[in-house]
Amino acid sequence: MTEITRDVVVIGAGPAGTAAANTLQEARLSVAVLEARDRVGGRTWTNTVDGAWLELGGQWISPDQTALLETIEDLGLETYSRYREGESVYIGREGEAVRFTGDIFPVAPETEKTMVALIEKLDTMVAQVDPDRVWEAPDAEALDKISFEAWLREQTSDQEVIDNIGLFIGAMMLTKPPHAFSMLQALQMAASAGSFTDLVDADFILDKRVVGGMQSVSQGLAARLGDDVFLEQPVRFLEWSDNGVVARADGMTVRARHAILAHAPVLYSRISFEPPLPRRQQQLHQHLSMGLVIKVHAVYERPFWREQGLSGTAFSPYELAHEAYDNTNHGDERGTLVAFVSDRLADGVFELSADERREKILDSLSHYYGPEAKNPLVYYESDWGTEEWTRGAYAASFDLGGLARYQKDVRTPVGPIHFACSDIAGAGFQHVDGAIRMGRTVAAEIAAEIIAERKESR
Ligand code: FDA
Repeated sequence: MTEITRDVVVIGAGPAGTAAANTLQEARLSVAVLEARDRVGGRTWTNTVDGAWLELGGQWISPDQTALLETIEDLGLETYSRYREGESVYIGREGEAVRFTGDIFPVAPETEKTMVALIEKLDTMVAQVDPDRVWEAPDAEALDKISFEAWLREQTSDQEVIDNIGLFIGAMMLTKPPHAFSMLQALQMAASAGSFTDLVDADFILDKRVVGGMQSVSQGLAARLGDDVFLEQPVRFLEWSDNGVVARADGMTVRARHAILAHAPVLYSRISFEPPLPRRQQQLHQHLSMGLVIKVHAVYERPFWREQGLSGTAFSPYELAHEAYDNTNHGDERGTLVAFVSDRLADGVFELSADERREKILDSLSHYYGPEAKNPLVYYESDWGTEEWTRGAYAASFDLGGLARYQKDVRTPVGPIHFACSDIAGAGFQHVDGAIRMGRTVAAEIAAEIIAERKESR
């Protein structure tokens, strides 16, 4: 059993942990990053499956995600735009595929009017929400008591409007059904992306990708840490007092002045804390839960949909695959589609055999792109729900009433223990950008504290 001593032990080598450790190192503090898996990157993971290079986790960047964009530039990585030329496809209640351009789905004129008015109303409400301090928003408590679905039903009786606006935040973002999270949680999700309009604009929110894959951000940051990153070291025990921490992993022990838990909050309880965390933290962590989504890749000999004038972008609240995009890699001749199956629909297909599931999902894709979609060369489902060190996708969010009640303490340190993860971010919530912001912020706070302590003791 190796035993080492550092200023800070960082638990988790995803974007938050690797960003935090870099900030600490820049402040001339010593760090050890302990990672449970045999790789860095966490929910960003680029891998080759049956000869196809795929982004199995987080991959897209929007223009407002400046912490991520700065990191990409600093690491000397390059970005490229998602393919988006041509028309998108929408499948409405009647089941007919309709081509369209722009952001508003091609629905009946009355439905469109109601959708536009509702999006305007949501934009106005979102503008009053600071994603880092949601509990201070007007009527925060009342808005946290009502589910997003119930709130939508109060606004309109047009089911297609409810289904589409519910889809934007439910299946597409929090990956939970709109009855399972509050109106306040929906507003925070939109506020974290700037506005509701930005969140529903695929050209904005899914703007760019990283050449070489999003995992190379964590890999680049980890490379700068050299031998201070330790893989296959799940932290099982964390002893703590005002004087510091002792983190015990499978093969090593780290003594440090501070610890950063840089992983999904649903995994805090995987660690035995000695003494236990205070009541407030033990309670609040139970109100955060992961969403569930299957990210499906289908790789074809060529991007055949482009020949039909299609961009590859497709949406429908009535399809198994509720959204899909052209995910062809930079410089790749083959064509790749990526599609998503979310929450209850994901539960449903996981009850089927792998072959039946594949058939159903590809059938859904064929409704958007035609029968050719049924015969990919490579097919792969990312199932983060079975990953022990993640337990869902994309991220965690609060249950009804949890956000207004607990958000103010979600990042409050407990003695020497600090929390950093995309799932507790404000700006960049549930995204790589938010993870980097959290990592940097927490590391800067710790650095300031240690530097002040050292000055005092001189
Ligand atoms: P993350 O979960 O990435 O890393 C935490 C690390 O801690 C993991 O490596 C884990 O193994 C480790 N760990 C956990 N417990 C431990 C323990 N006890 N001891 C040691 N190590 C431990 N984002 C985005 O910006 N654009 C996008 O397009 C997408 N799309 C997307 C698709 C899919 C399928 C997923 C799953 C996720 C996304 N995301 C995304 C979200 C994005 O990937 C996510 O927000 C960040 O990876 C979160 O980074 P963190 O560092 O906070 O946690």
